[in-house]
Amino acid sequence: MPIPPTLISPSLLASDFAKLGDEVRRVEAAGADWLHIDVMDGHFVPNLTIGAPVVESLARVASRPLDVHLMISEPLRYARDFVKAGAHVLTFHAELAPTPARQREMLKGLRGEGAPLVGIALNPPCAIEHIADVLDDVDLVLVMSVHAGFGGQKFMPEVLSKVRWLRERGYVGHIEMDGGIGEKTIAQCAEAGTNVFVAGSAVFGSSDMPGTIARMRETARAAQTKELHAKS
Ligand code: DX5
Ligand code: ZN
Repeated sequence: MPIPPTLISPSLLASDFAKLGDEVRRVEAAGADWLHIDVMDGHFVPNLTIGAPVVESLARVASRPLDVHLMISEPLRYARDFVKAGAHVLTFHAELAPTPARQREMLKGLRGEGAPLVGIALNPPCAIEHIADVLDDVDLVLVMSVHAGFGGQKFMPEVLSKVRWLRERGYVGHIEMDGGIGEKTIAQCAEAGTNVFVAGSAVFGSSDMPGTIARMRETARAAQTKELHAKS
């Protein structure tokens, strides 16, 4: 099975919003592969963050792909704005689409708006089987390892079985994990088959950002290699 690349996607939610441009430059210089942007509407999740105008400003200073995680009740309503603003990955939550038909409709809608990559996210209580029928249509599955809404929460290892289920089923797209990821938790995520790692507080709270990102990447790669050898 081809291994998707190992990507570190620091979450700007943990950055200093008073100097976002500088934070983007700093985290890119430290080795970020993607930039994770948490969009919250105060309705789908009990928190409010940023919208398309801020993403547009970030796109002007960023050289890395913008990985936009939509925690909003009406992703289709705002998809065009985010694509125009420069989103590279656009991910919506599966809980909003109760049936495979609705999931397909939403994926098609996001693609129709021009999103280069479309993703589907699952909160911890949402079973992975919920999206079984649409896996061929998604570029990325985002497995939440905390309840969406806030940074700085504790990693929930019980969601790792979702990643294993996807890889065992032959899913070769990106699997991203988000919530409570850092140097201590990244190995188990990588071993299970995750290849995109979101980290907010671990990266922005670090006094050695380049070192933290490099060690996370190395630990993830080592765990993936170990897992591959275990299988062969
Ligand atoms: C939570 C967000 C996460 C969050 C991760 O709803 O989706 O991206 O910023 O932050 P940490 O890494 O601090 O758990
Ligand atoms: Zn996120």
